[in-house]
Amino acid sequence: MYWKMWFGTLSVGLMVLSICPQCAAYRIPNVDLVLLNELGFEVSIPDESGMQRVFYMLQVDDICPALMDYITEVSNGSWVTRQKTVLHNNDKLQISVLVQYNDVIYEKSETRVILNDRLLSTRHSISRSIDQLIGQEQCQAIVAADQSPCKPSQSIVANQQSICQGELLFEDNFDGTQLNVSVWTHDVRQRMYHADEELVAFDNATRNSYVKDGRLYIVPTVATDVTTGAFRLGDRCTAVDTPDVECNIAQGSFYKIKPPVYSAQLHTRNSFSFKYGKVVVRAKLPKGDWLFPYIMLQPVSTHAETHYANQLRIAQARGNANLRSNKQEDISGNRLYGGMIVWQHGTALEFLSNHLSKQHYGDEFHNYTMIWHRDKLTLMVDDEIYGELYDGLPFFNERSFIIFGVTVGGFLNFDDSLLPKDVKPYKNREPRAALSFWQHRDVWASTWSKHSAMIIDYVRVSAE
Ligand SMILES: *[C@@H]1O[C@H](CO)[C@@H](O)[C@H](O)[C@H]1NC(C)=O
Ligand SMILES: *[C@@H]1O[C@H](CO)[C@@H](O)[C@H](O)[C@H]1NC(C)=O
Ligand SMILES: *[C@@H]1O[C@H](CO)[C@@H](O)[C@H](O)[C@H]1NC(C)=O
Ligand SMILES: *[C@@H]1O[C@H](CO)[C@@H](O)[C@H](O)[C@H]1NC(C)=O
Repeated sequence: MYWKMWFGTLSVGLMVLSICPQCAAYRIPNVDLVLLNELGFEVSIPDESGMQRVFYMLQVDDICPALMDYITEVSNGSWVTRQKTVLHNNDKLQISVLVQYNDVIYEKSETRVILNDRLLSTRHSISRSIDQLIGQEQCQAIVAADQSPCKPSQSIVANQQSICQGELLFEDNFDGTQLNVSVWTHDVRQRMYHADEELVAFDNATRNSYVKDGRLYIVPTVATDVTTGAFRLGDRCTAVDTPDVECNIAQGSFYKIKPPVYSAQLHTRNSFSFKYGKVVVRAKLPKGDWLFPYIMLQPVSTHAETHYANQLRIAQARGNANLRSNKQEDISGNRLYGGMIVWQHGTALEFLSNHLSKQHYGDEFHNYTMIWHRDKLTLMVDDEIYGELYDGLPFFNERSFIIFGVTVGGFLNFDDSLLPKDVKPYKNREPRAALSFWQHRDVWASTWSKHSAMIIDYVRVSAE
């Protein structure tokens, strides 16, 4: 109806009028959105010579009716609409603008999301044809669907039909006396069977992972002996790809030495997986040279044990208190990373955002958040956004499960090509990496302490 009014008004005044969404000649200026807190918000575009009128359609969270405003006069150099609707965190504001410029109408629309009382940056839409926008019937259909307080979510959880935005999908506060084994499964295997791999065995021993005082501890421990005796994980080994080498170290094999470090990795693959949502993990990351935490999601088509699986990394920081890249960049545990690792033809593509802090991320607990949307990942630490990844990247569209673990080394985690020569006590892809690491334990083991544990206070997943 409003759109008809707009067209009506125009056609009375102007006989020659064409709609030109694809015209390259004129581009609508950038839209400015200002939050006025309890007073609502203001949307504006700066005036440019040739602009005659502006029409705004503003839709909060797809709710109908949309807010509309028809602006016929420039005010203080811009075309402004002020709305009394108060925008809240996580609200999505769809802004559509029609501009009449030298008697031709141009349209553009974009979506903005309000997070923590600030605005997420914008994705400008490609111009759409105007008829698609009118959709009053569509709008009514959404109104009808929106009678309930439940805003439909894009999140998907196995065996759960309809989900509302904000709904809690999964939570573990580790408040029990022990790990809930119906939720968490241990990944049990050694990771140093291959020259590319990590210098650790994951086990389910209680010294490497336990619940205490409402928190989950994952504790790496240095082996007392690596050169004598056999290494066999027996029935508890969960390796899927190459159990022969991941479950045992055979006498006489080339990699005869046993793992220098034992640690743990656990996951929810058998109990909980989801697609799209917000994950918050309150945790203290491990501190100590060559330690590396895994707080991540992995698709259900893979196992926690799958080599080279795609991953969504919620938070990672190297354990090292001091570490610089060969370009002198601080890549110690003061630098937090989050994002996505995707394997293509045997090569890891890393899409990571990072945030440098004055402190090591293992010094304190922090709240690590990943908001996973169909076309966007938002990364936050303690409510501060430090990264946003948009579509165009190879986003997962698969249900994923949660993994927590602490490892040592790893050729992506401590990439030789990133580090100055001889900083690491071993070389990636060197067959005797584990032995070399073990022989230099005086250097690194002394940097480990009670702060080398990763401590998880809670993990929560809610629908988006
Ligand atoms: C006009 O804009 C200027 C700068 O953008 C601002 O300082 C001033 O307060 C505005 N005046 C009105 C009446 O909005
Ligand atoms: C373990 O988790 C399951 C599934 O969420 C739950 O039903 C059960 O109550 C939990 N057990 C304990 C001891 O908390
Ligand atoms: C480790 O796993 C094995 C095999 O599943 C199980 O029998 C054992 O109880 C587990 N140990 C701990 C400490 O959970
Ligand atoms: C992290 O979340 C907890 C609530 O779970 C809150 O009390 C705390 O203030 C948050 N910490 C930071 C640094 O934002």
